[in-house]
Order: sequence, then structure tokens, then C-alpha cells
Amino acid sequence: MAPLDRSATVAVVGCGAMGSGIAQVAAAAGHHVLMVDTRAGAAAKAVQGVNDALGKLVAKGRMAEDDRTALVARLQPVDGLVDLAPARLVVEAVVEDLEVKRALFRELEGIVAPDTILATNTSSLPVTAIAAPLRRPERFAGLHFFNPAPLMALVEIISGLATDRAVADTLFATAKAWGKSPVHARSTPGFIVNRVARPFYAEGLRALQERAADPGTLDAVMRESGGFRMGPFELMDLIGHDVNFAVTKSVHAAFFGDPRFQPSLIQQELVEAGRLGRKTGRGFFDYGPDAAKPAARDVPDAPRPSVVSVEGHLGPAHGLVAAIREAGITVETLPGPHPMRPFGRNRIGRLVVDGVTLTLTDGRSATQHAAETDRPDLVLFDLARDYAGAARIAIAAADGASRGTVAKAAGLFQALGKRVSVLDDLPGLLVMRTVAMLANEAADAVLQGVASAADVDTAMTKGVNYPLGPLAWAETIGLDLVVDVLDALAKTYGEDRYRASALLRRKVWGGTFFHD
Ligand code: NAI
Repeated sequence: MAPLDRSATVAVVGCGAMGSGIAQVAAAAGHHVLMVDTRAGAAAKAVQGVNDALGKLVAKGRMAEDDRTALVARLQPVDGLVDLAPARLVVEAVVEDLEVKRALFRELEGIVAPDTILATNTSSLPVTAIAAPLRRPERFAGLHFFNPAPLMALVEIISGLATDRAVADTLFATAKAWGKSPVHARSTPGFIVNRVARPFYAEGLRALQERAADPGTLDAVMRESGGFRMGPFELMDLIGHDVNFAVTKSVHAAFFGDPRFQPSLIQQELVEAGRLGRKTGRGFFDYGPDAAKPAARDVPDAPRPSVVSVEGHLGPAHGLVAAIREAGITVETLPGPHPMRPFGRNRIGRLVVDGVTLTLTDGRSATQHAAETDRPDLVLFDLARDYAGAARIAIAAADGASRGTVAKAAGLFQALGKRVSVLDDLPGLLVMRTVAMLANEAADAVLQGVASAADVDTAMTKGVNYPLGPLAWAETIGLDLVVDVLDALAKTYGEDRYRASALLRRKVWGGTFFHD
């Protein structure tokens, strides 16, 4: 499908944060852009804002002055919707209100040509519902940019019940021609990103609620072991707890109260206290003038071991063995539980350091694992995105472990150059349970036809900068182990929240994959 021709006029309605960014993107691609806002002077102010932002690029030598002038000249503030008649595509970015958006598009239908594409940038309203009163809902779709639109690559192209596939395909091709990474999605609560990302916040909040560690330590584990750009607490502080909590509540309500999406009492309390994050100077962290971010708590330096036994294959953590050798520690190899895939429960190998057993979490707590394997001095370690490169590793010890167990485990990881964070015995630890729940939600989105596996993974890497798409990541862990983690969490908590997606189970039984 061909993109909208560059000579085609684009219109943007609503010139706030999103509308001005979208107008800039369209103008940068060569379109003449008409801009309208009900607030007097808002469209002109938005043009000025784009001009100023581009001025910074010019000052840094990243844009030529002529290009800035030409781009800004293509932005044309107009007085009202009647001026949008020449537009071939109208993108709406007004207030998030169903009735306001419906009324706007009904009016637009009487102004623009019959084949002009109408698109909404809504982040939470059903595209199907906005389109319902239209005479021609088939030319209507969601065109969901992320903030800030000029910088964020992802655009979700949302098809409602009536959307013509050719319209979605044209928008897809157009977003691509504008230098974006578009994905297709069906109009379902949260679309892709705002649905699949919920566990990133929810599992962090859950870990905090269960007092696994303080927010600064949990953030450091997600960054330095999980490879995420930001931890959940600093990210929620940045987004604003009012906004983040509202999205969680709206997705939870839209799924009729599915416990997968249950909001957190901890976050609600922050909202009630007015601690909304950076914008109010305080959220999980303090942002006052003299405030310093609390450092993550690390295990103090412990002696390095001279010998480590490796029993079996460590599954996704097997890269540790080479790192241990490289650190000059003698490795004794012993037969393990099961040398080959699948790596599920009781099949992952283990390390033994001076009588202490270390193994990757499989969703059970260390205490349960110790009881079931009759190894009281047991330490579980968390998932790392890259065991060789990770700067930090999280561990948890079984309740009955003898004194010195944590230090012996920490001494090994410290010898590999890593900082070590102890979490209280949180089932599934933090990175593993978060990634398992992200993959679970992604799998359900695929199962329910919201989007393809490739598009879900693209959405999460381009829209929220995850180091890897959740489904591709689950495959590097082993889908069998991911299902085991979820089943162990479901059993421990007895909550439907941790139920494994039927599609994950099917892939495990069939030996098939999300990606070839
Ligand atoms: P904003 O409050 O910055 O801008 C909204 C603009 O629309 C204001 O300038 C307002 O005067 C104008 N407006 C309100 N009613 C209007 C009408 N009937 N006709 C013309 N103009 C009207 O809001 P923001 O953040 O730009 O959001 C706009 C839309 O984009 C919302 O639907 C929001 O859910 C969505 N969105 C927001 C994102 C964000 O991070 N802020 C991200 C992705 C989507």
C-alpha cells in the first residue's frame, strides 16, 4: 500500500503536547500541515514551539537553518475546522473525552472530502466507539503516537470494528514514510503498549508491597541486571503517578476487573498524598533542590571462592560458567539434574560454592525450593539480560539457610565484577517475574488477535525502549521455564493474576515459537 503522497495536505486538530509534535513530524516529511485548536492562539504558539525546538537542533549543528525555515513554513495555523477542507488526512489530538472527539469527527465529516482519512491519537478510548456515530466509519482509525512524537519511533495503527484494511495500511505506509516504526493493532483496551507494559509497573509495585527491597534497589536491579533503561519506580515518578495510576485503572476497568491489571494500593496512596513524582517534587523519590537519589543497597564485599562446582546446565544463565572461569576460579563440572532443554522446574542446573547451592529462580521462593530439594543453604539468583555483562545481580536466600550463606553467594558474583542486591525471599525474584508477566500479557495479546508477535515485540522495544521484545526474550529464557515461573507464582499466591496464557502453554507443548 502506498503512503499518503507528500503533496497531500495533513491537518492536526488540537495543538497541545501531542498535536504540535505530530504536526512537526508530518511537516518534516514534506506535508503542508493545517493546525487548529479551540484555544485562541494555541496553534500559532505550537508553531512557535516547533520553531524554538528546531532552533536548538540548528544550534547544535544537527539541522540546517534553511531546513528549519522550510519546515516551519509548512505549518499553517488556521481558525476553525471549516478551514480543513483541503486535508487528505486529519489527525486529532484534542482532550481525551469520548463525546468531544465524537462531536469533532461528526463535524469534520461534513467538511472534508469523502475519502479523507480521519485518525485519532487517543491513548485510551476505543477507536470503535469514537467511530460509531460517523456516516463513514470505515475511513476512521487510530494513529497513536508516543510522547514526544518527534523522538519516539513507535506509532500504533489501531483498527476499529469498521476500519477498512486499506485505510489502516495507508496509515501504516505513511507512518513509515515519516520515519516511524508503525505496528498494526486492534481496538482493545490499552492497544499494545499500554496493555503489555502494565506488569512492568505492577510487579515492581508488588515487590515493594511485599517488602522485597526499597525502590532504589529494585530500580537498580531492573536497570543493571534486567537491562531496562529505567527502573519501574523512577519511571513512574517521571510519568506521574496520577497519569500512570489512571491508565492502570482504565485498563483494569476495561477488562472488567481482570486481576492481571489490578491497580496498586501503594500507588493510590501516593496519588492521594499528592506525591505525583517529579512534577510535584516528590514521588517514590525526593526531587527537592537538596535531594540526592538514595543509592541501591549492596551486599558488602565478601571473600571470593576458589572453586565452584557446576552441576548440569544452567539454562539461560549458562553464560555464568565461562565468566567464572575467566575470573580465575576453578570450575568442577558434575552431572546435573538434566543436561538438556527443556529447562523447566527442577531441570535447571546449579552452582555449588563452599556448601551453598545457587540456582536460577524458577518462580518458587528460595524457601520452597530449599524444602523441596532438601538443600537448606540455598540461594536463588535472578534473571539477567546478559549474565556476562550485567553490573548487578539480585539474590534471595532460603529462610533456613545458615549464617554466611548470603556472603558465600555474593562473593562469587562479586568476583565476576557484579554488585549484589539481596531481595527478601520474593517468588520469581524481580526481573524474572516481570519478564515472565510481560511475555504472558504479550502472548495473550497475540492469542486474542490484538497484534502479531512481531508487532508486539516491535511496540515494546520502540514504544517503551525495552531491551528486547517480551516474546523474543521469553524464547531466550525458554518458554517452558517462563510457564513454570507463572505456574509457581499462581500456586504460591492463589491468584488468577498469574494464570499462564493458553498460547504460551500451546507453544511449549507443540515445541513451536513466536519468532522463527
Ligand atoms: P494537551 O492538553 O497538551 O493538548 C490538547 C489540546 O487540544 C489543547 O491545546 C486544547 O486546547 C485542544 N482542544 C481541546 N478540545 C478541542 C477541540 N474540541 N478542538 C480543537 N482543539 C481542542 O493534550 P495532549 O497530551 O497533547 O493529548 C492529546 C491527545 O493525545 C489525547 O487524546 C491524549 O490521550 C493523547 N495522547 C497523549 C499522550 C501524552 O503523553 N500526552 C501520548 C499519546 C496520546
